[in-house]
Amino acid sequence: MPKAELHVHLEGTVDATTVLALADRHDETPPAHDVAGIDEWYKFDGFPMFLERYFAVLGLLRDPQDFALIATNYLTQASEQGVVHVEFHVSATGHILENGKRWAPIYDGIVAGCERAADATGISWGLIPDISPHLPAADCARAMDEVFDHDLSGIVAIGMGGPADTWTTDDFAPIFAKARSLGIPGVSHAGEHGGPDEVRFAVEHFEARRIQHGIGAMSDPEVVAMLVDGQVPCDVCPGSNIALKAVESAEAHPLAAMVAAGIFVTLGTDDPPMFQTTLMAEYARAWAWCGLDVEGIAKLAQNSISASFASPELKEQWLAFFA
Ligand code: ADE
Ligand code: ZN
Repeated sequence: MPKAELHVHLEGTVDATTVLALADRHDETPPAHDVAGIDEWYKFDGFPMFLERYFAVLGLLRDPQDFALIATNYLTQASEQGVVHVEFHVSATGHILENGKRWAPIYDGIVAGCERAADATGISWGLIPDISPHLPAADCARAMDEVFDHDLSGIVAIGMGGPADTWTTDDFAPIFAKARSLGIPGVSHAGEHGGPDEVRFAVEHFEARRIQHGIGAMSDPEVVAMLVDGQVPCDVCPGSNIALKAVESAEAHPLAAMVAAGIFVTLGTDDPPMFQTTLMAEYARAWAWCGLDVEGIAKLAQNSISASFASPELKEQWLAFFA
């Protein structure tokens, strides 16, 4: 089935082999010396440990060619799984503020890598530069201005990462307002480790057009109703939720309840090699956990296409498969 992947972090697609190659290219000591060691390093006791290692990978991404390489690699793998469109979250403020990088060469490298894969496979793509909310909103605003001042043609939305207490107390909303003034919608992580209030906040303050995760919404029927009535898609990543212990077990995961409640669910991988997953594995989880039939699975694939920021023409072409 044609599918779109709407929740995957470009920097979270760096597999063990590529970590080793990047460390070698930049003359850095890798976090482990072989693939098995990196795969072990990609096991986390929770979100803080994950974030520390995710940012270590960010530090190995330095030149445009590094970004091009990982973009090409992931789009090629995705295409092999029937993915027709990928929207990559890119940790823009992380690269700019934490690592002193400039946005233009990063963007140009990613675009070159995406175009290379698109030429080879026909896959479509878009970018979601995002805000890392552990950084102050004023600094993020300056960093995002650098994003807004460069080529916007490959950008389909801006995003908000998470979780962090600060994103409900610091003033990130003006960044989303500026993006909207440029015709760029916002999406936001919310309700991953946190509760329904995060989801409500993202919709009300960031005008989020999609929520990444959203599993925490389920404890408040009013927030569920807000998602259902507004048909605000939730890009759910069950494998990530297990790997980062956002839920205790597969049995405790609310995916089936979200689908049953009428929430517009799409499936994503978040950070696939870091969580030992693929998009097909996420569909297999949905199949196993939700008791869906083929039609139910097809609905998730259709949702992913409908909720994407691809052009109406492309969506119509992909959705024709299901007609
Ligand atoms: N950035 C990369 N992966 C993430 C996740 N699972 N949640 C929030 N931000 C992220
Ligand atoms: Zn995510």
